[in-house]
Amino acid sequence: MSEPRYDVLIRGGNVIDGTGAAQRQADVAIAGGRIAAVGTVDGEAARVIDATGLAVAPGFIDVHSHDDVALLNNPTLDFKAAQGVTTVVCGNCGLGPAPANERLQQFFQRGVEGILGPVREFAWQSLGEFYEAVRATRPGVNAAFLAPHGSLRVAAMGWERRAPTTDEMATMKAQLAEGMAAGAIGLSTGLMYVPGTFAETDELIELARVAAGFGGLYVSHIRNEGDGLLDSVREAIRIGEESGAPVQISHHKAAARANWGLTQQSLPLIDEARARGVDVTIDAYPYTAASTSLAAIARGGRLVPVFQPADIMVASVKHQHQYEGKRLDEVAEMMDLPVEDATKRLLDEEENAVVAVMFIMDEGDVSRVLQHPTCMIGSDGIPSPTGKPHPRLYGTFPRVLGHYAREERLYSLEEAVRRMTSLPAATFRLTDRGELREGAWADVVIFDPERVAATATYEDPRQYPTGIPYVLVNGEFVVDGGEPIPAGAGQVLARGS
Ligand code: ZN
Ligand code: CU
Repeated sequence: MSEPRYDVLIRGGNVIDGTGAAQRQADVAIAGGRIAAVGTVDGEAARVIDATGLAVAPGFIDVHSHDDVALLNNPTLDFKAAQGVTTVVCGNCGLGPAPANERLQQFFQRGVEGILGPVREFAWQSLGEFYEAVRATRPGVNAAFLAPHGSLRVAAMGWERRAPTTDEMATMKAQLAEGMAAGAIGLSTGLMYVPGTFAETDELIELARVAAGFGGLYVSHIRNEGDGLLDSVREAIRIGEESGAPVQISHHKAAARANWGLTQQSLPLIDEARARGVDVTIDAYPYTAASTSLAAIARGGRLVPVFQPADIMVASVKHQHQYEGKRLDEVAEMMDLPVEDATKRLLDEEENAVVAVMFIMDEGDVSRVLQHPTCMIGSDGIPSPTGKPHPRLYGTFPRVLGHYAREERLYSLEEAVRRMTSLPAATFRLTDRGELREGAWADVVIFDPERVAATATYEDPRQYPTGIPYVLVNGEFVVDGGEPIPAGAGQVLARGS
């Protein structure tokens, strides 16, 4: 008997190729980790999947992930693979575990650990060494990295509320350049957080210029997503315009009731910038609740005044798990303290490692943002090992396909897939990803367009979606029969040209 010609043959599915083209029935053959043929395919394969009635699409690209450390702690990344995600973009919001020095390790202990998870051992220093460490764990999905400004700044100058000195700036630039040379796809900032919030626009332009020099992007969690939304969008655009870096505005939203509807003004700012030639794009997750570190919205226990305690849920903590799933007013009752004192005590006792879910967005803004022509999908999932993480960690992509495309008809299935595949691949410069065509890497998701749905809820968020029976990364199955399985075929992706 001769060797089979293909590793995998997916027969008779409806191919949605990622470009936005109408679906068509075709076979997909995979060999050596790449797509060998799309069309009517004859020939033997080691494994044949009957995809009749199912959609066959490129694997999804999660452009806004915080999986940097999760890739080391849980390389299968089951919560993403089960959604059909085959590539995660890490290093978002200015946060990441490198460049690692003493101060960066303190940064983790003082709260970043609550978002990214615990680092067992900082077995690296530079950004490039960290990417090597991820490669060595053989992750199940592909990972690409942004160089995180917050980490660069803490490593170079600690928690100083001032501009960097010439020396400190030189250090940040050198570390950033090292990461870009090692394949990072751009620079990320988290300007709502310490220490990003201490940086003036000029510092960011100067750093974004370094990223732009390598062909990288500027990706930003902007300074203020509430009443300062418009100025913050203007700042991001200016940074792109003056540095020459394409701009990606992360998890675009209008936060807090008083600001609902503001996306009717923020999106036109993006359109105007694009019209004069600035490359600005956005991403969003398909939920009306946000999630972040409680310390970031309640410094010293005092909640940012636009938020109500009843709108803030404690998602995960380090020690006192009885508070997980409770709103801040309930936590106060349990502690028999006023809300401010209870919040402060919780943050102190949990060493700031408290993640909150905040019910602060309007459905009108969410669907308006999702429909914007430049909007990709980014989960912003916070991979807490404990507690009740925001359901976006497990549900983002199936929720867009099932709820927003199929039920709400925000856009066609083909368009939904395009925004999860070829659009992010082109924007983030991921070569030979995001399209189902001969020669591309075989990142593939097979799903049932009638059944695909997120099942993760705020109460019970750790649930795999339904309707996604198979997912392949570089030709290897990472989800088989709806179950995530370890495969180790993911690659660390370097920025393409
Ligand atoms: Zn963010
Ligand atoms: Cu984020």
